[in-house]
Amino acid sequence: MTPKTTVDKILSNQPRQPASAHAVGSAFAPSNIALCKYWGKRNDQLNLPVTNSLSISLGNLGATTRIWEVEGTEDRVSVNGQVLSIEVEFHKRLSAFLNLFRPQSHTRYCIETTVNIPIAAGLASSACGFAALVRALQDLYQWNLSNSDLSVLARLGSGSACRSLWEGFVEWERGEQEDGFDSKGVVLDTLWPELRMGLLMVDEKQKTISSRMAMKQTVETSLFYCQWPSQVNRDLLNIKKAIQSKDFPLLGETAESNAEAMHALMMTAQPSIQYTTPETLKFKTQIWDYRKDNRASVYFTQDAGPNLKLLFLSQDESFLQEQFPNLQVIVPFQKISSQLGSKS
Ligand code: PMV
Repeated sequence: MTPKTTVDKILSNQPRQPASAHAVGSAFAPSNIALCKYWGKRNDQLNLPVTNSLSISLGNLGATTRIWEVEGTEDRVSVNGQVLSIEVEFHKRLSAFLNLFRPQSHTRYCIETTVNIPIAAGLASSACGFAALVRALQDLYQWNLSNSDLSVLARLGSGSACRSLWEGFVEWERGEQEDGFDSKGVVLDTLWPELRMGLLMVDEKQKTISSRMAMKQTVETSLFYCQWPSQVNRDLLNIKKAIQSKDFPLLGETAESNAEAMHALMMTAQPSIQYTTPETLKFKTQIWDYRKDNRASVYFTQDAGPNLKLLFLSQDESFLQEQFPNLQVIVPFQKISSQLGSKS
């Protein structure tokens, strides 16, 4: 099974031409942050993971994408109004992904994406980017695929994108099949309106090594990688238990230790990978001190970059904003709660 055969199978009963020559597809998808991380693939081509992972979506924060067919020799891609050169890595990745969907080999696309989160901040902009793109393609071609099918398509662009098709908590089930049709996101039906995420920017610079490369290097060279699946199994059980019983310390402790274990694992790759800077460590120490002194129940998670995402409840929001004046507070359940509220 290749990415192309996966796409052709999912789209076997769907239109492959736009409804009109001037049709434009448009869609939004939220960003997501993993509380139990995806770190390692069992199939690089299909982005099939070694383990399950679990994330929380960021409500109104994410990517809005418009796509339409154009004449020409290259795809035209703009992000936040800036046109990307075809030499840029992200342009190459998008065009390669779009090769899976072109009705004719000469079809080219114009893609305009607006992302309302800092792009290089490790806030999973590629995850929401690919999820918004498959939704925009669905809108352009008028497919009627379920979120579950779209999740499989988004996974082919970026693994973590398969968790960006829903609001709230989403588990990416690794699946067992070699073709990957059972490797997709599944939404958990629990809301937690008091939950907050805080983005603590440590460094705005682009990361030195991509998550894709770092993941591969860890799986291939770390002698400790064989321990990761059992850590994930244990952490997932605890995170789901914490969500069910609204046990915030259990959620925070487990998410923080899962992220720390992922970074420890990377350090044991050869050559060693280190995203944590002295500044990151300074913030972590501050967070540990707040917990030790009972000043706030706050935890962090960290992805493939130096920035931290804080986890806390609404009751600690003003304290943390005082301590970290640049903290960007995100209310993950605001959008879904207001949607439910307006329906009732
Ligand atoms: O989907 P990718 O290739 O961008 O990898 C995401 C990796 C992490 O953000 C570090 C973990 C995760 O589960 O999102």
